[in-house]
Amino acid sequence: MFNLKNRYFISARAIGHILVLLGFGLAASTQDFNYDESKVGSHALPELLRNRDGKKIRDSRQWERTRRPEVHSLFATHVYGRMPGRPVAMHFVSVKDDNMALGGRATRKEIDIHFTSDAGGPVLHLVAWLPNAVPKAPVFIGLNFMGNHSVHADTGITVTDTWRSLHPDKEATRALQTERWQVDTLVAHGYGLATAWYQDLEPDRVDGWRTGIRSTLAESLGIRPTEWAALAVWGWGLSRILDWLETEPRADAMRVVATGHSRLGKGALWGAANDTRLAMVVSNESGEGGAAISRRNFGETVTRINTNFPHWFIDAYKVYNGAPERLPVDQHMLLALIAPRPLYVTSAAEDLWADPTGEYLGAWHACSAYSLYGKKGLPSPTPPGVNQPIGATVRYHRRTGKHDVTLYDWQQYIAFADEMFAK
Ligand code: GCU
Repeated sequence: MFNLKNRYFISARAIGHILVLLGFGLAASTQDFNYDESKVGSHALPELLRNRDGKKIRDSRQWERTRRPEVHSLFATHVYGRMPGRPVAMHFVSVKDDNMALGGRATRKEIDIHFTSDAGGPVLHLVAWLPNAVPKAPVFIGLNFMGNHSVHADTGITVTDTWRSLHPDKEATRALQTERWQVDTLVAHGYGLATAWYQDLEPDRVDGWRTGIRSTLAESLGIRPTEWAALAVWGWGLSRILDWLETEPRADAMRVVATGHSRLGKGALWGAANDTRLAMVVSNESGEGGAAISRRNFGETVTRINTNFPHWFIDAYKVYNGAPERLPVDQHMLLALIAPRPLYVTSAAEDLWADPTGEYLGAWHACSAYSLYGKKGLPSPTPPGVNQPIGATVRYHRRTGKHDVTLYDWQQYIAFADEMFAK
């Protein structure tokens, strides 16, 4: 069936591939990605539980005192940039509330997170649903791709001025991503949801930093635009959503799940690596620069991602184009920074670009950090078959189908959160 949602995502993803296949102007060539498992070759990963001075890490105390800060700083220096704190003048303005949303089952709140005292400064427009049946609900949070009005059919959701300024045909994406968000299912299971449009923080293009918060907040955050990059900005946004949840009596800020799909999954991982208040993390098909091992030559590569999306990473990361083996980190070490918090990594069987096996191996190799806390992760170095979630505190599934977020995915996240939060 023709579907605008599918068309948008297939085309957005396919454009890069088509340009390469046709040999157009991009610096990368067809050698810059591989879909042939027999050509993957071998690679040695940097050792997670050994300090750079050679000392072996034996317990969680050593990990937290020495190796974790070291790994964190390597990612900050070579990949994502450093993460600033919250702006001093940040404040929350309630825009509108509807306590009879979703047929009376939820309260829908719209909140503007102002980052400066000046009303004309940058704002993150948030929409949240809190289940009316739960006095203090755990909450899933995540940034959305198509505006707050795209996540549910409820016509009461504001089409924000930031979205409208870039998309004059303002209603066109209303309810277009409802499968990706599953608001009703979450509320029926006693969870809240808070989401905001990711480009409120930084427009997703090479020069997006000029109008995004990397410029507008450079002074108040004390960080130059080149010291961090777009993925970090989006991850930082999740922490600001959590800041609001901490002020909301109906939300349980101790049980907040950071989620993100694809580029926003990469951002969510780095955000949660920096903000240990985020109690659980879901990486949905985050692929290269997210959960997937960079040294594994399958799907997207460091060269391709740096070429097509240079604004996602700091300049230092470009040094590793064509040479991921020289990186002092690999992505299992990013996932290890989430430990001992529950982590769910997913792939989709047709999403070869994100390298499902590489995503599984990222999660598998992070499990030794969980072991330091006596937590069980995944049972085997071999990925499971499709639609077979496996693992304990580190969980993984490879869903049938394409690059997307579906009801199946959400059902697994909810079951995982139920178990981990022991509701
Ligand atoms: C592109 C990009 C991926 C990214 C994806 C997305 O395909 O190459 O790295 O995950 O877009 O965000 O949808």
